[in-house]
Amino acid sequence: METEARHDALVNRQELIESGNVPRHIAIIMDGNGRWARQKGLTRAEGHRQGVKALKPIVKECAAIGVDVLTVYAFSTENWSRPQNEIDALMALLVEFLRSETEELKAEGVCIRTIGNISGLPELAQRAIQTAMAATAQQTRMVLNLALNYGGRDEIVRAINRWIQDNRSLTDNVLLTAPAMASYLDTAGLPDPDLLIRSSGEMRISNFLLWQLAYAEIYVTETLWPDFDPAELHKAIHAYQQRVRRFGGLRE
Ligand code: FPP
Repeated sequence: METEARHDALVNRQELIESGNVPRHIAIIMDGNGRWARQKGLTRAEGHRQGVKALKPIVKECAAIGVDVLTVYAFSTENWSRPQNEIDALMALLVEFLRSETEELKAEGVCIRTIGNISGLPELAQRAIQTAMAATAQQTRMVLNLALNYGGRDEIVRAINRWIQDNRSLTDNVLLTAPAMASYLDTAGLPDPDLLIRSSGEMRISNFLLWQLAYAEIYVTETLWPDFDPAELHKAIHAYQQRVRRFGGLRE
């Protein structure tokens, strides 16, 4: 499989909007911070710092294009296996990001939400998340959904266990359905992603949104996340707009 260099033609925001086919929900695996740092002789923490810096213009651009939901993979359930100093750096960056950007995101009409097992994060991070969510809860232009201590398998298991708890008193033949399942996932109430973007060339899903990505279009770019800018986002959306989505059916 090749990444999509053929979509390198620059397209502008207006063209993407006028196509009338803007993805409602974009999910991003922000990969390559470490490689970006290594190439520049910097620490991995510095790579993540640049990764956070890259995120803000992407959030703003998604809102400007009319995307309803942007979900970004900020910290996975597997990332705990990284060295403690890298974990600490990521948590500190999360808190700093929420503290410094919430007001501006609010002014842009962005509502901050999270998916993942938030109770497993350090207290300080949990408090910063609660503050940011409360401050932006009334915003309706776009949802910025931060996947934190998130794993697709963990989410599915938590959802099923909660469903079992809620249905314990019911008769034996109550079965879990797909809509019920979706309503127990962390993404309850959000549309499934239309487009999954992964930076830095890896062709994997990495335990991200396993249920929700069922029919997402996948776009992989070689660009490392700290270098991913609005022009790269435009390329990804443009590529998406060329795809024919059949959802298991036949082409019209
Ligand atoms: C993968 O790069 C990236 C991560 C594990 C974390 C992504 C996090 C950010 C962009 C910043 C945190 C976000 C917020 C909202 C504060 P990698 O380190 O695996 O890169 P590599 O594969 O090149 O080593």
